[in-house]
Amino acid sequence: MNIEQASIRVAELTKALNHHNHLYYVQAQPEISDFEFDSLLKELQELEKKFPQLADEHSPTKRVGGDITDKFQKVPHKYPMLSLSNSYSIEEIRDWEGRLKKQIEEDIDYVLELKYDGVAISLTYENGKLLRAVTRGDGEVGEEVTKNVKTIKSIPLIINGDFPPLFEIRGEIVFPIEAFNKLNEERAEAGEELYANPRNTAAGTLKNKDSAFVATRGLDCFLYGIYSDNTAFADHFESLKKVKSWGFKAPEEDKRYFSKVNSIEGIEEFIEYWNDARHNLPFEIDGIVIKVNSYQQQSLLGMTAKSPRWAIAYKFKSENVATRLNAVTYQVGRTGAITPVAELEPVVLAGTTVRRASLHNADQIEKLGLHVGDFVYVEKGGEIIPKVTGFDESKRSADSMPIFYATNCPACNTELVREDGEAQHYCPNADGCPPQIKGKMEHFIGRKAMNIDGLG
Ligand code: IVH
Repeated sequence: MNIEQASIRVAELTKALNHHNHLYYVQAQPEISDFEFDSLLKELQELEKKFPQLADEHSPTKRVGGDITDKFQKVPHKYPMLSLSNSYSIEEIRDWEGRLKKQIEEDIDYVLELKYDGVAISLTYENGKLLRAVTRGDGEVGEEVTKNVKTIKSIPLIINGDFPPLFEIRGEIVFPIEAFNKLNEERAEAGEELYANPRNTAAGTLKNKDSAFVATRGLDCFLYGIYSDNTAFADHFESLKKVKSWGFKAPEEDKRYFSKVNSIEGIEEFIEYWNDARHNLPFEIDGIVIKVNSYQQQSLLGMTAKSPRWAIAYKFKSENVATRLNAVTYQVGRTGAITPVAELEPVVLAGTTVRRASLHNADQIEKLGLHVGDFVYVEKGGEIIPKVTGFDESKRSADSMPIFYATNCPACNTELVREDGEAQHYCPNADGCPPQIKGKMEHFIGRKAMNIDGLG
């Protein structure tokens, strides 16, 4: 194959891979198998290796990562990244709507969206190609994380359609719940400390220096706003539909991820629906965002120092219940790491029965000052792993006992050790402690190591 032929094939492969990537990650309607996709990708990788001059910055091969960022460069935002004013009750939303009605004496349409609980990101596209991705930072200056963002498969590297030559699109990078739980299961198995919630883990991942590592995490991104000096749409609703047609993962109307209404009743209904339905979403949300649809009305309303007057967030209350702490038990991971677990009187929280909650480590127990028998407050930390956040002092019985952290391994009775500066206690009996041996065997057989189908 000469360079001309290779160049034609590279263009064909790029087009096909971008198309199938979009079908899989944005539309969730793949047309080819993973195997076929990987074969096309491999062919492109090989051609790029053979003809490095054909390897483009926006090639689908960038999705797997490999580029390292030594230092995340500071980049000023062309349009400041504002925040939203928060509200915690329908009354506050009613007051807000009342204030708008005083200022605008015509009908107002509202766009209702999910408030994704992730990390804000600003993407700049020049001539249809992703030029740069910048974090929010302090709202005025963010950090460039382009190489990492290119590994997020639902973010198009090249778009199609009638887009402006230069625009910014903003959204939220999220850690999908399934991927997050899987990651934590793997960490629990390895005796490593669990990640607290998907949002912080997404933020940490995005700032990792190694884009190949970021690519393994399965981050996703939802887009909610476009900024350009020459946008052609009249309103926000239209803009969301448009960006979807260019290939972005914008909210879906048929799943009720967004909606347009013209009354406070419509707003309330959407909030009530998602207050329950949020527990079934594959990603986390922490509220609903209500935006005035018309750009003209938006500019009439203007903004305060930090946030626009034409939008407001309704935040869900984090679900919290009190239940009795019956005991503290200790889990031994494959590396010997000890995790204390709160054994609770079963209680229903956010739609599921909670029996156990992580207490993380000895410091956490000490910080909370818990006694066995206390009525503890259990909260779904980021809605996933229940965590104990405190206890009801008025219900503590006089004879309750403080928790004395385990001194010996619950499985093999070896004295536990804790290295200076480490949060976790360890059982040092690596070769004789049954859960460690079992954990090591399972790990050895498992997918990430030898990938053995069966073992006698
Ligand atoms: S609009 C000027 N829409 O919430 C309004 N923000 O304090 C700009 N967020 O960090 C934001 N989902 O990243 C908007 N559907 C949504 C959102 C959303 C999540 C985040 C945003 C920002 C924070 C606002």
